[in-house]
Amino acid sequence: MTDIRIRPAVAGDDDALLALDTISWDSSSGFPSFREKHRETFFDERTTPETIVVAELDGVVTGYSRLVPKTPIPENSHVLGIFGLAVHPDARGKGVGEALVRGTIERAREKGAHKLALHVFSVNDGARRLYERCGFRVEAVLRDELLVDGEYVDDVLMAVFL
Ligand SMILES: CC(C)(COP(=O)(O)OP(=O)(O)OC[C@H]1O[C@@H](n2cnc3c(N)ncnc32)[C@H](O)[C@@H]1OP(=O)(O)O)[C@@H](O)C(=O)NCCC(=O)NCCS
Repeated sequence: MTDIRIRPAVAGDDDALLALDTISWDSSSGFPSFREKHRETFFDERTTPETIVVAELDGVVTGYSRLVPKTPIPENSHVLGIFGLAVHPDARGKGVGEALVRGTIERAREKGAHKLALHVFSVNDGARRLYERCGFRVEAVLRDELLVDGEYVDDVLMAVFL
């Protein structure tokens, strides 16, 4: 049986999260411009341990989500966003993603958010199914919003009310 644990990140997770993030994204899920950027650390000014929810599978850091305000606008402060979510390729299909999303929803609730939003590439079918399973619904589709490896991709905006 697999043991999945969801917990807040700590500074000591940096190496594991950097390694995980480096191999977890491809053209159907992430921005090439970000993937190709050389990084020495996972955490930075915008991605602090306080913004990260970690998933451990059998005691090993296997996934993370990044929970931040959707915008810096005070009138929008009741809306948080999942801006970053990844599970190690070798650990997919075991429920880690779902546990992470559900754990992140819970954390957003604890923070008093009214709504949790996210963006997902239209071609990222697996992630879209995962978000639907966890209660997210499509709010808008921005057509041809991104140009990824020479192909136009729609940006799908999803949200769940807390
Ligand atoms: C999207 C992503 C986070 C999903 O993570 P995951 O851990 O594989 O998610 P889950 O295991 O909860 O669900 C994946 C599938 O496994 C199935 N599954 C879950 N637990 C299972 C189990 N114990 N046994 C068999 N199948 C299982 C789910 O039903 C789901 O099936 P589906 O794809 O047919 O809908 C992961 O693929 C990833 O990191 N992708 C790259 C980054 C990315 O796309 N991030 C989102 C950007 S918006």
